[in-house]
Amino acid sequence: MDPIGNFFVRREGLEPDLPPILTGSHLDSQPAGGRFDGASGVLAGLEALQAMDAIGIETRRAIEVVSWTNEEGSRFAPGVMGSAVFAGQSSLADVLPLKDPKGVVLEDALADVMSMMETVERRKIGFPVAAYLELHIEQGPILESSGATIGVVTGIQGTRWFEIEVTGAEAHAGTTPSRMRKDALKAAVSIIAAMEEKLADDADGLRFTVGRMSVEPNSPNTVPARVVFSVDLRHPDAARLKSASEAIQAVCRGFSGPCSISVRETVNMDPISFDAGLVDLLDKAAGVLALPSKRLISGAFHDAKSMHAVSPSAMVFIPCAGGVSHNPNESATAADIAAGTRVLALTLATLANLANDRFRE
Ligand code: GLV
Ligand code: MN
Ligand code: MN
Repeated sequence: MDPIGNFFVRREGLEPDLPPILTGSHLDSQPAGGRFDGASGVLAGLEALQAMDAIGIETRRAIEVVSWTNEEGSRFAPGVMGSAVFAGQSSLADVLPLKDPKGVVLEDALADVMSMMETVERRKIGFPVAAYLELHIEQGPILESSGATIGVVTGIQGTRWFEIEVTGAEAHAGTTPSRMRKDALKAAVSIIAAMEEKLADDADGLRFTVGRMSVEPNSPNTVPARVVFSVDLRHPDAARLKSASEAIQAVCRGFSGPCSISVRETVNMDPISFDAGLVDLLDKAAGVLALPSKRLISGAFHDAKSMHAVSPSAMVFIPCAGGVSHNPNESATAADIAAGTRVLALTLATLANLANDRFRE
C-alpha cells in the first residue's frame, strides 16, 4: 500500500527491475451502489494473475493489480483521488485535510483503515508504469444495444462542473407581493430552463445535468433566499465543451432579475484519447478470442484518466444490464465479465512479454 491507501498486488516478472504493466480499478462505490462499478476491474485483474499462475505463464515484466483509493468521491470529494495522487496531479498535502460531510478528516479515516492492514508492505507514492489497462462496466447502454460483448475504449469525454449560487431574500410566502420578491428558487429554475434551451443538441452528444440543489431556508411558507445548484457538463470534443461552458456562464451573466448570481468552476477535465497502440492490442485480443467488439468513448471518467498522464493507458468495457449504473440495480453477467477478463488477461500477458517494444525505457 502507498500512503494514500492505493493497494497493489504484484506478480513478479523475470526482469523485476523493468517498470510493471499495471491493471485495476476501484472498490469504493456510490452511496447506494452498485457492486460492479469499480470492483469488476479489480477482480478481473486478480483473476488474470491467477489464470497466469494456473497455466504457468512467465512474463518479462511484472504485472501488478491495483485497487485505487476513492474513485467515486462520494464520501471525500473530489474523486479519482488515489490515482490522481499516484500520477502527481494532486498531492497528499492537498487531500489529507479534506473532510467528509460528518466532519471526519481524510487523514484520520485513512490511518484507521491502514492500521487494520499493518502486515501489508508499504511503498512510496508513484513509480514508472510501462502500460495501464482498466476493465470496467460500460455504465451506459451502447454495448448492450449493439450486441457487442467487448468495448474497446478509445478515450474519455471531457467534463466540467460548475457550482451556481443564486442569492435573493427571505420573505413571507403569504404576504409578499410577487413584484417585491427576490425568489432565488424561481430564478434558479429560469436559469436552468435557459441553459437547457441554449444547450439543445440535435446530435444528442452533449450531456448537461443539474444533479444537486440546495434551497434555503427550505420552508414551504418562506420565499427562498439562497439556492446553490450543480452543473455537470460533458462532451468528447474539447471545442464543443468549451463553447457549452461559455454558454452556461453567459446565461448566468445575462440573467436579469432581482437576484444575484455567482458561478464557480469546480472540475475541468479535458477529453483524452487513449494510446493508439494499446487500443489496437485490445481489438486484436478480442479478435483472437472471437468476441464481438466495438470501439467507443467513455461517457464516465475513470482512474485511467489520471494514468493517461503518466503511462500509455486504455480501457476494456463490458455491457451492463440496461446501461444502468450508480444505482443498486447495476448488474453484469458472469459470461460478459469472464469475456472481458480474457481480453484483459491476454493483453496483459502480451504487453508484459513484448521484447522490443515502444514501452521499453
Ligand atoms: C464517475 O463516476 C463519473 O461521474 O464519470
Ligand atoms: Mn468506476
Ligand atoms: Mn462510478
